[in-house]
Amino acid sequence: MEEIHVFAAIEMNLESRIKLQPYPKHIAIIMDGNGRWAKKRGKIRVFGHEKGTKAVRKIVETCVRLGINHLTLYAFSTENWNRPKLEVKTLMRLLISSLKNEIETLQKNNIKLNALGDLGSMPLKVFNELEHVIEATKSNSKMTLNLALNYGARGELINCMKEIGEKIKKNIISIEKIDETVINEHLYSRNLPDVDLLIRTSGEQRISNFLLWQIAYAELYFTNVFWPDFTDQHLYEAIENYQKRERRFGKTSEQLN
Ligand code: FPP
Repeated sequence: MEEIHVFAAIEMNLESRIKLQPYPKHIAIIMDGNGRWAKKRGKIRVFGHEKGTKAVRKIVETCVRLGINHLTLYAFSTENWNRPKLEVKTLMRLLISSLKNEIETLQKNNIKLNALGDLGSMPLKVFNELEHVIEATKSNSKMTLNLALNYGARGELINCMKEIGEKIKKNIISIEKIDETVINEHLYSRNLPDVDLLIRTSGEQRISNFLLWQIAYAELYFTNVFWPDFTDQHLYEAIENYQKRERRFGKTSEQLN
């Protein structure tokens, strides 16, 4: 019993400590390690995804409680279609059931759902459910939850170039007018603010085709924790670590001070 109190006190401390400094406005997460988490327990990989879905729920609630403006989760990459059929099917099923079950939580917490990726090529059932939740939550304003689905950053850039190219051909945009704002307007993410903190779980230290444009100045944080084990405490640690960094955006320390 006493141990629980001590642990609660440490947790409180860290949460109140991070409140003293500005939070990252936009957190993006590569939720990795579901499969290994399951294998370590002698279970099949999809068990890890089921547990991982519970971690998603918790972290979304925590981010909205902290006042984070944007949370972007890498839920399914364009490369993930190459996984075993059962795994892909389970991930789609989990997505549909999460969207169905969590719409109330999103409304209650004033969270707007947004999705980025090649959504038109998603299974129709997922696409319809997504559209429904996006439409139902479009006026919510406390936090935007961005789900990267059938997403790949290179694909996003190719699509962006094609859209701009079409507009140049039709004289809607001139080449001289292309700048960062124009690019931003044609990404899947459409005007998503830059990522401040990118977290990847499970010990891997790579970007895996995630938000290549949007992470230009992001602080990167890697943790060995597998995604299903990722708790509020781990999120606070990542935020605290972020708050200790000096973000110079190309300037010198002296200029910033
Ligand atoms: C990576 O772990 C995780 C994924 C490819 C999918 C992430 C999906 C979820 C957490 C569940 C559904 C999400 C939502 C938003 C409801 P991995 O399978 O690559 O793990 P491994 O590297 O250990 O094999």
